[in-house]
Amino acid sequence: MASKTEKGQQIWGGRFAARPSDIMQAINASIHVDQRLAREDIAGSRAHADMLAEQGIITAADNEAIQAGLDLVLEELNDDRFPFRVEFEDIHMNIEARLQELIGDPARRLHTARSRNDQVVTDFRLWTRGALSEAAAQLARLQRVLVGVAERETETVMPGFTHLQTAQPVTLGHHMLAYVEMFGRDRTRLQDCAVRLNESPLGAGALAGTGFPIDRDATAEALGFDRPMANSLDAVSARDFVLEALATLSIATTHLSRLAEEVVLWSSAQFGFVRLTDAWSTGSSIMPQKRNPDAAELIRAKASLVTGHYVALQGAIKGLPLAYAKDLQDDKRLTFESFDTFMLCAQAMVGMIGTARFHHDRMREAAAHGFSTATDLADYLVRALDMPFRQAHHVTGRLVALAEDAGCDLVDLTLDQMQSVEPRLTNDIFTVLSVEASTRSRQSYGGTSPVRVAEQVAQWKRRLAMEEK
Ligand code: ARG
Repeated sequence: MASKTEKGQQIWGGRFAARPSDIMQAINASIHVDQRLAREDIAGSRAHADMLAEQGIITAADNEAIQAGLDLVLEELNDDRFPFRVEFEDIHMNIEARLQELIGDPARRLHTARSRNDQVVTDFRLWTRGALSEAAAQLARLQRVLVGVAERETETVMPGFTHLQTAQPVTLGHHMLAYVEMFGRDRTRLQDCAVRLNESPLGAGALAGTGFPIDRDATAEALGFDRPMANSLDAVSARDFVLEALATLSIATTHLSRLAEEVVLWSSAQFGFVRLTDAWSTGSSIMPQKRNPDAAELIRAKASLVTGHYVALQGAIKGLPLAYAKDLQDDKRLTFESFDTFMLCAQAMVGMIGTARFHHDRMREAAAHGFSTATDLADYLVRALDMPFRQAHHVTGRLVALAEDAGCDLVDLTLDQMQSVEPRLTNDIFTVLSVEASTRSRQSYGGTSPVRVAEQVAQWKRRLAMEEK
């Protein structure tokens, strides 16, 4: 093969007399993972070769041959004809070797003033930049679905929980918008790290820069980076850009997992709040009655892969002296798997929530139980009887105990029964005890009242529509 020496060795094999052992190759090769960087690698090589020619480091003719050869490589990739070969270790040497086979000698000048150390991290920054923007777009799609549910369910009353105990009635729209807020913050975090990431390591060489008169501003600009990185040691060894991406992704996936957990609970017979469509449920091989929320469960489980990979990468980096070490090769596997997992989970969530049917009756019924309007009663005592809140809390507690003894809810107590606890109460009290009255009353900014929820829905719809333009 053109890229091997007569002794049949690797591209870097000049000083070696023997081939690596098979196991060495197995642990060392990364082509099965980093082949995903092929397009970024070609883009980096194009920018590098153009710059070398512009600077008079290679001839214009060599650059033309290289660019034409890279076109051929790209065609092979697009047609799934590119021969990925494990003996060339990684994507960088696979492409360079193939280029040599296709165009001969000019290919041997491409690696002038470049090292795989700046090459790989240039490719990786480009890839991560694209992945961050895809992840943010996927979260925007999920937000649209959730806002759609919130719009339909602005008035739908359900129990709000603390400690998973019925606390106060809320609206389903309000509950959905809580997740819209979380995913909104996740999106800004993804965008923030894309800004910090966007500096070019290309031209840092192996670690110390190069003696060739390269133009790092030109390659940075050609690749859409804001500027070249200022320190070559930092450029080849820094991976905080991807740590930050995975940390952010881990938070976003954690939010997906919390929502998934709600779907698991809500679709159970005990809650009965939601029914997933057939397309988003699975059956049991033995129990014919089952409709299992497998996608939600898997989102819940897979969320820990992303967090785990973040921790694994942090662990790989924390003990590394400057500059490059091969430990850094594993960053790609961890990152690709994390983004793949995140995208799959977010897509599944879009499909599941977008088609789910909510059972209004069950939600309302559950909201009305468990003395969920006890706080409304206490607030009423403060307003109507000018009671200090602490005293109102105590009086309400006695009314709850009374209802509990009678085996009924607060609304089911008679006025006589109520007056046995607080003689000044009138029939007026019953106006605050319904779940609708309760949610309607919570009109403070950010509260659960349908008017506030409708405002938030309108605002999110405007924001999301503006982004689509
Ligand atoms: N495949 C390597 C990686 O992903 C490329 C850089 C190799 N550099 C080196 N000095 N061996 O990190």
